[in-house]
Amino acid sequence: MNFLQVCGLRRSIRFYKTWQPVEREKIQRILEVVRVTTTCPGNLQPWRAVVVEANKLDPKDREKLLAADNHQGAHRTAPVWIYWFADPEMGRPETFQKRVHELMDLGALASCHGWTHEAINASIEKGVRSPEGMPEIGGLLHNLPREVSAIIARGETIGACDVACLAAVNEGLGTCLHMVATMDKVAEVKKFLKVPESWEAVWLQLVGYPAEEPEAGGQRPRLPFNELFFDGAYGKPFPRDAAVVEQLKTEGLLRAPAPKPGRFDEIKHLAQMFGFPV
Ligand SMILES: Cc1cc2nc3c(=O)[nH]c(=O)nc-3n(C[C@H](O)[C@H](O)[C@H](O)COP(=O)(O)O)c2cc1C
Repeated sequence: MNFLQVCGLRRSIRFYKTWQPVEREKIQRILEVVRVTTTCPGNLQPWRAVVVEANKLDPKDREKLLAADNHQGAHRTAPVWIYWFADPEMGRPETFQKRVHELMDLGALASCHGWTHEAINASIEKGVRSPEGMPEIGGLLHNLPREVSAIIARGETIGACDVACLAAVNEGLGTCLHMVATMDKVAEVKKFLKVPESWEAVWLQLVGYPAEEPEAGGQRPRLPFNELFFDGAYGKPFPRDAAVVEQLKTEGLLRAPAPKPGRFDEIKHLAQMFGFPV
């Protein structure tokens, strides 16, 4: 599959083949993609993940983790559960400082844009205005409140989850993001997974081979293009060229919309197969 086909085929999959395990190397490949592909400010890399294979869990532990997700049907059938966390410490100015020094030393950030070790240190440590050409990190990061570091870490980890979803589809797998909904459940899950107290639970990613057909009943509705994207300023929709739309149909991004014919029969059949109420 090429990139556009992967994007076009990503769906939230809600029925998985309980009987087909996911190869460990495929999980590793997803994580490897996230590690190199996800971008974030100052190369902070706040995302962390714990991979849980459902069939390796003690039945009592399995029940506990399912209960934290309200026993959702999709969760019950998915063989792999990836719990994504954000480490707020990675959103601290000191981490940014260390990482941008590293980026400078490697030639990723260029001194011709104003980046120097002295400018970075003065901006972050003393709040000195950054030279023109580089971002005004002094105003942003000097005395950064801890709550903002946590927001940054969380936001960047959400990006990592999106990359992980596309990487799973690229491996021929189905995937869906969930969240651990309530704070008491979050605490239980964190304790069970033995993650540091300071980490923030972000999303839970279900992974497995789809038991539903990969199109999962067709592409889900999206808001009209002209309500989302603007040209130059808000109010003037970015023009949507019909020829580009046709091209993207042939390239596999834009596919048959939901519901495809037979979708409700498919769901009924799946429900019977898994013993869900029909
Ligand atoms: C953060 C997040 C949490 C979600 N939580 C759930 C969930 O708890 N249960 C569920 O069935 N779908 C969940 N979804 C899937 C969304 O409902 C789904 O992405 C949306 O309907 C669009 O459909 P699509 O992903 O198939 O394009 C979640 C998605 C995200 C991004």
